[in-house]
Amino acid sequence: MANTILVGAQWGDEGKGKIIDVLTEQADIVVRTQGGNNAGHTVYLGETKYVLHLIPSGILRPKKTCVIGNGVVIDPVNLVGEIDGLLKQGISVNGNLFISETAHLVLPYHRELDEQREILKGKNKIGTTKRGIGPAYGDKAARTGLRMIDLINADRFEALLRIRIKENNEVLKAFGAKPLSFAKVHAEYRKAGDRLKPFVTNTVVYLHKATRRKAEILFEGAQGTFLDIDHGTYPFVTSSNTTSGGACTGSGVAPNRMNRVVGVMKAYTTRVGEGPLPTENQEIADMLHKMGREFGATTGRARRCGWFDSVATRHASMVNGIDEIAVTNLDGLDTLDTIKACIGYRVGSERLDYIPNDIEVLAKCEPIYAEFPGWKTPTHEVREWKKLPAKARSYLKAIAELSGAKLTIASVGPARAQTIFV
Ligand code: GDP
Ligand code: IMO
Ligand code: MG
Repeated sequence: MANTILVGAQWGDEGKGKIIDVLTEQADIVVRTQGGNNAGHTVYLGETKYVLHLIPSGILRPKKTCVIGNGVVIDPVNLVGEIDGLLKQGISVNGNLFISETAHLVLPYHRELDEQREILKGKNKIGTTKRGIGPAYGDKAARTGLRMIDLINADRFEALLRIRIKENNEVLKAFGAKPLSFAKVHAEYRKAGDRLKPFVTNTVVYLHKATRRKAEILFEGAQGTFLDIDHGTYPFVTSSNTTSGGACTGSGVAPNRMNRVVGVMKAYTTRVGEGPLPTENQEIADMLHKMGREFGATTGRARRCGWFDSVATRHASMVNGIDEIAVTNLDGLDTLDTIKACIGYRVGSERLDYIPNDIEVLAKCEPIYAEFPGWKTPTHEVREWKKLPAKARSYLKAIAELSGAKLTIASVGPARAQTIFV
């Protein structure tokens, strides 16, 4: 398989977890490189549903090794909860999970500040997951963060945490929020630190040694291209580089060791949280929600839905260097008479074929659509490309071509088997 970076090519929740699980079969190691437990990656094994937040989706295959890289922000208490949750579902992480020493910690004041800043923004809120992700990455950039290596060093952690809680309590007081108890946070985090210590290592060295023995690595992206802190619809983004470059900085594996980039996209578009979504369409949202689909895996919020947007996915191909496309949720469109895909934007008298950087201009963009005839046949039982309805194949080929990369996977259901290799 060679070293593969998998990214979300839209606004997150593209079905990355499912595709990672499928591709893990050919990989030796799966690495998460950015984001935190704002992510929710769903994987089904048979009838059992697993939702992964921090642990790579590759963990469900027992012989594979999973790594949480240096670029991830870790809420250690939450991670222990995730490990215990997996254990209850019969999945062990012993011996096959490594956590980077230099990954930054999400602390309770990050979560509290995330919440307070959203309240202060009022109607201009981002709609974050309230997991403390923005404030944690903020501390990392400000060089005031604590890392896993600090957490597992009892004396150092105590001294650093004391200072950080003191400072952040002043900020929380200014917001009118309740200050945190050092003793409580310290006890809770030290307990989690002791549980996680056996997993903590120098993952950069581990990955380099693995590369030398020709191990093949799959880099599991979280969120999506338009939630990228640099390339997304700022400020309605997350706080990490969700695009392919983040896989290098977030793991310590160099760009010239990467062999391919797979972009995952839904056959339509969804977004959870605030910010512009040019192809948003309430009828599509109602249809999908009635089917019980498109509710957030982390927060349970109903996702906003719309038609496929090839202006966005073409942009995603450009900034990520997408070689191959995996289209998921094709089956979501099975009942429609006509399917639309956005092929350009109109703003006033101007036509755009790229995503404008000015968020106010993006909010004014009117999609220009191409129409495709619906196939009006269930696809969830199809397993071969040739057996897909001809109209579904035409639609898939068209959206891949519009997105500027080769279609290699079409997904027609959440299960492993519901995957068509093109
Ligand atoms: P991720 O964050 O990119 O991993 O995606 P999520 O897990 O948050 O959301 C994707 C949802 O779509 C999950 O409920 C998946 O089980 C589901 N899913 C993935 N691929 C398909 C598909 O081809 N068809 C259907 N019906 N569901 C899918
Ligand atoms: P996966 O990996 C979809 C969104 C939030 C909000 C914005 C900022 O499952 O695709 P944050 O909590 O990160 O500060 O929120 O980003 N968001 C996601 N949307 N899927 C995700 O992850 C997301 N992670 C964050 O809804 O709009
Ligand atoms: Mg998700």
